[in-house]
Amino acid sequence: MTRTLPLATVALAAALSFATGSACAQAAGKLKVGFMLPYSGTFAALGNSIENGFRLYVNEQGGKLGGREIEFFKVDDESEPSKATDNVNKLIKRDQVDVIVGTVHSGVAMAMAKAAKDTNTLLIVPNAGADAVTGVMCAPNIVRSSFSNWQPAFAMGKVAAEKGAKKAITVTWNYAAGNESVKGFAEAFEKGGGKVVKDLNVPFPNVEFQALLTEIAAQKPDAVYAFFAGGGAVKFVKDYAAAGLNKTIPLYGPGFLTDGTLEAQGAAAQGMLTTLHYADNLDTPRNNAFRKGYALTYKANADVYAVQGYDAAQILAAGLNAVKGDLAKRDILTTAMRKVTVDSPRGKFTISPAGNPVQDVYLREAKGNNNEYRAVAVKALADPARGCKL
Ligand code: PHB
Repeated sequence: MTRTLPLATVALAAALSFATGSACAQAAGKLKVGFMLPYSGTFAALGNSIENGFRLYVNEQGGKLGGREIEFFKVDDESEPSKATDNVNKLIKRDQVDVIVGTVHSGVAMAMAKAAKDTNTLLIVPNAGADAVTGVMCAPNIVRSSFSNWQPAFAMGKVAAEKGAKKAITVTWNYAAGNESVKGFAEAFEKGGGKVVKDLNVPFPNVEFQALLTEIAAQKPDAVYAFFAGGGAVKFVKDYAAAGLNKTIPLYGPGFLTDGTLEAQGAAAQGMLTTLHYADNLDTPRNNAFRKGYALTYKANADVYAVQGYDAAQILAAGLNAVKGDLAKRDILTTAMRKVTVDSPRGKFTISPAGNPVQDVYLREAKGNNNEYRAVAVKALADPARGCKL
């Protein structure tokens, strides 16, 4: 005896098979990448370099990662922590992206890390050094392609002490990145026999430095350590030189103080020593090819931010290649993003269990428009990842 199915059942089955079919098509379709970066304000140039670097790597792979074409979404976070949760939710909830790449500002990044943890969204941090992101907030779905604020700062503290400085003053914007950077510097500087005698700051992104410079001139320390970046770094380095301080008190900093900024800083930055996980003239085939490709594509010189964007794409590619683009294989994907050895323009680096690069930090000197390699300040430096429990 044959049973005839009621019409409604047939319709439902047809609808279900249609739905399943479209879900499959979607899985094999475009991968949604959301850039949350500063496209305005003092860090605008940094955001653009990161996006350019990321896109350069994708283009070199024929426009696909892990076999998937990429669809990009963008949000300007304005380096504004008070808007960060709303902004990241535009990518997570409205655009339903598969992975977020962002951001530059540590305060904004911490709000993003919280949202990424809460929703288990993949997050690749291509700059912001907030120690907490790969410290107390560490998670398998969060990885950083850049640095922790502690890393270049610790290296500079060691170098400054080795150069014989005894008394230092620190200067920064009063926010997570600046404060953590100053702390990292003091840790190594004081271990090396120096003493930080004063911490000075201005609110982010204020660039009224006159009162600080007057204080430095009065105190006459052996060295000044400054954390500023982007437009703020241009202004600080120029003001420091205009006050004549660079003639008597060396100005040190993490490399952000002179990265992507040398053209605008001109004579004021020449000869400055900084520490960073990148130097423009690293004479390796990998760096030379990267810089050539970047210059041809964007008619601009690559900087550390471009490298970090490029490497964010490399880390994502490592994850996607391990699962052939299938995001449902989440554990395999996130494990591969941790196990990768990144063949970076900065030199090869690995990722710590907490999700932060383990990398050489270089001593560089500003010459013309390049931050030139001088020495390895600290080899394979790993962030202490304080508070990370996985
Ligand atoms: C940060 O806020 O973490 C930050 C911003 C700009 C830099 C470096 C770190 O160049």
